[in-house]
Amino acid sequence: MDLELKDKVVLVTGGSDGLGAALVRRLAAEGARVALCGRDPERVGRVVKELGETGADVLGVPADVTRQEDLERFLSAAEGRWGRIDAIVNNAGRSAAGAFEQQDETVWEEDLQLKLHASVRLIRLALPHLRAAGGGSVVNTLAVSAKAPGAGSTPTSVSRAAGLALTKALSKELGADNIRVNAVLIGLVESGQWVRMAEAGGRSVDELYATLGSGSGIPLGRVGKATEFADLVAFLLSPRAAYISGTGINFDGGMSPVV
Ligand SMILES: NC(=O)c1ccc[n+]([C@@H]2O[C@H](COP(=O)([O-])OP(=O)(O)OC[C@H]3O[C@@H](n4cnc5c(N)ncnc54)[C@H](OP(=O)(O)O)[C@@H]3O)[C@@H](O)[C@H]2O)c1
Repeated sequence: MDLELKDKVVLVTGGSDGLGAALVRRLAAEGARVALCGRDPERVGRVVKELGETGADVLGVPADVTRQEDLERFLSAAEGRWGRIDAIVNNAGRSAAGAFEQQDETVWEEDLQLKLHASVRLIRLALPHLRAAGGGSVVNTLAVSAKAPGAGSTPTSVSRAAGLALTKALSKELGADNIRVNAVLIGLVESGQWVRMAEAGGRSVDELYATLGSGSGIPLGRVGKATEFADLVAFLLSPRAAYISGTGINFDGGMSPVV
């Protein structure tokens, strides 16, 4: 199936590692023009170099999504290079959860800035460009805890539930401009954060994935692959998903207790 993403301009936050990097690779393989950001310039540069060698049109911008001026710089760099913006993926994030009483004001504030306010700001900045392009697509990477929060899941489940509400509210408001807004709710998927956790614990990442896959109540019995996430999001961004808006799709091998 041709996803018709050739020459589309897509911005991916947190595109320098894990799920975001897998998505950047997938979009580049489809012929899309992709701008990615992350805080660490080296990691951003590695993805750009790798894809540049394949002839892909990829732009890397070291940027912290919690800083308004960085988001403006990220968006301007993409607009300046390609003159349009067709889609954005709010994907930057990290895990932050634990016992409620262990989470102080700073942890809550940082989590909301990273997972909610950054997305609000980037969507606000991108809207005039999506409208000028005649419509567009927004995908928010969330977590299954947005729909089914468990004990010890704050603050992230709260930030993610807000992201789900944002997704639905904007899909209603922006549909008339042909702008679709969807969310992908992650369960457990192979990514850089698990690699770092395995390294910190002195174990192999394959062993960690096997443990998570068999011991987390995932009906399919394994963690997801970043490339599988990339396939789903590439589809959601594409004109092939032209009638899909306002959805939150569980990407979790069936783990969530709710649809
Ligand atoms: N993998 C899972 O099992 C899982 C589960 C639930 C939810 N998620 C969500 O899925 C998304 C992707 O996570 P992942 O697993 O792929 O994590 P990852 O491998 O750690 O990658 C995270 C990416 O986000 C970037 N990032 C983090 N903070 C940022 C900031 N303030 N500004 C700009 N970029 C930032 C990172 O680069 P720098 O660190 O260099 O900035 C990196 O490129 C996140 O929103 C995460 O919360 C993942």
